[in-house]
Amino acid sequence: MLTGAGVSAESGIPTFRDALSGWWARYRPEELATPEAFARDPDLVWRWYAERRRHAIGADPNAGHRALARLARLGPRVTLVTQNVDGLHQRAGSAAVHELHGNLTRARCSREGRVVETDRWDATTAPPCPTCGARLRPDVVWFGEPLPARALEVALEAAAACDVFLAVGTSNLVEPAASLPWIAAAAGACVGVVNLSPRGQRTGPRIHPVLGSAGTVLPALLEAAWPRT
Ligand code: OAD
Repeated sequence: MLTGAGVSAESGIPTFRDALSGWWARYRPEELATPEAFARDPDLVWRWYAERRRHAIGADPNAGHRALARLARLGPRVTLVTQNVDGLHQRAGSAAVHELHGNLTRARCSREGRVVETDRWDATTAPPCPTCGARLRPDVVWFGEPLPARALEVALEAAAACDVFLAVGTSNLVEPAASLPWIAAAAGACVGVVNLSPRGQRTGPRIHPVLGSAGTVLPALLEAAWPRT
C-alpha cells in the first residue's frame, strides 16, 4: 500500500500538485524544500513547515485513513508505506506506518540528525538544538536528500513480494516512491491505482485504475471484501 497527498486531501490538507489547492502552487519547491533553501533562509523554511505542521495537527483523519487502519485489523498482512508527512495515518490508528518522506510533526538537529523534542514551533526563527546549538529543522526529506534507508527497504521488499498493491492519492511523479507500483506489477501483483483523476497515471498490464476519492473508494473496497464488518 502506497499513499500520497491525495489521501489527506479530504482532511483539508492541500496536495502538492493539484492546480488550485496544492502547496507548490503557492511556493516553488526549490525555494523551501531543499537543503540549499534551509542554508539560505532557515527561518523562512522553519515558518513554512511550522504552518504546515499546525495545519496537520488541526486536521482530522478522514474515512480513507480510517479504512486503511481497519484493513490492517481485518486480517490481511498490510504494509503501509506513505509519502505523507502529516501523521494522519497514525492518528487514524495505523500501527506500523513506513514514512518515506519523514514527518513534519517532528524536529531534528540539522547538524547531528537526532530527533529533538521542541515546544518552539511558534518561533519566528529556526530554534537552536538544545545539545549542540545548530538550527533545528523539520524531520522531513527534502529534494536531493536520501530517503530513510529502513523505510525504503521495507517498501521495496513489500512491493516485490505482495499479491495486491494499492497506490492511493499519489501523482506518482517523485522517485523512488513512483516506481513502487511498477515494481509490484512486474513481480506479478495486481495493482489498484485509486485517484480522483486519471491525469498522468500510467497504465499497463495488471494496473487497474479506480477513479474516485480515497475517502469514498477505500471504505467501499473494505465493504465489498468484508461486508458488514
Ligand atoms: P501530489 O500532490 O503530487 O499528488 C496528489 C494526487 O492525489 C494527485 O494525483 C491527485 O489527483 C490525487 N488526489 C487529490 N485528491 C484526492 C482524493 N480525495 N482521493 C484520491 N486522490 C486524490 O502528491 P504526492 O504524489 O503525494 O515530497 O507527492 C509526492 C511527493 O511530492 C510528496 O511527498 C512531496 C512532493 O514533492 C517531498 O516533499 C519530498
